[in-house]
Amino acid sequence: MDIETQKRAAGEAAIEFVEDGMIVGVGTGSTVKHFIDALAKIRQRIDGAVSSSEQSSTLLREIGIPVLDPNAVGQIPLYVDGADECDPHRCLIKGGGAALTREKILAALAKKFVCIVDAHKCVDVLGKFPLPVEVIPMARSHVAREIERRGGTPVWRQGCVTDNGNWILDVHGLRIVDPVTLESEWNQITGVVTVGLFAHRPADVVLVGDGRRF
Ligand code: 5RP
Repeated sequence: MDIETQKRAAGEAAIEFVEDGMIVGVGTGSTVKHFIDALAKIRQRIDGAVSSSEQSSTLLREIGIPVLDPNAVGQIPLYVDGADECDPHRCLIKGGGAALTREKILAALAKKFVCIVDAHKCVDVLGKFPLPVEVIPMARSHVAREIERRGGTPVWRQGCVTDNGNWILDVHGLRIVDPVTLESEWNQITGVVTVGLFAHRPADVVLVGDGRRF
């Protein structure tokens, strides 16, 4: 099965977790786009959505789903999002689409976090995909030096400004055997907004486009 077919299969499979009257957390990316397409067919059944990016908010509004302020909804029952890498413990690397901070906020609000991926995203150890780190612009060089001291090779994603007005460093050369510790430690670097590791709050369910789930 090709990657695009798998993305569609994973996105459509996540619809089974949507219940009547829900406010659904919606992530960002090409896999989520398939989820939004599937959500369009049942839009009357849900009360609205909260979204992890301006891009997804636009798509949701286009299909007539109200996009709500996360501050106004409290906990959300369901959050559906893609990932760049996923390990067997459902820990994730996210942020390839630069939406990592808002994604982490929705994951924190969610009772159930359903992650939708194609099979090539599933790895034994995270780190082959460069780890995105959102930084306050004036701290970019400082954060880059701190990351180099810790053994990573940061590359500034030039031209990319996040929805929060910040910048992204993509960190190459990592083999993340202890994602919980790395997430904690790197989040402590002054100037880091969010590390794109979802280990303290991993996915609850991963739906793979080849039919596997774990
Ligand atoms: C955006 C993300 C996406 O979930 C991740 O990049 C996967 O994207 P795609 O479904 O397009 O492969 O974390 O910040």
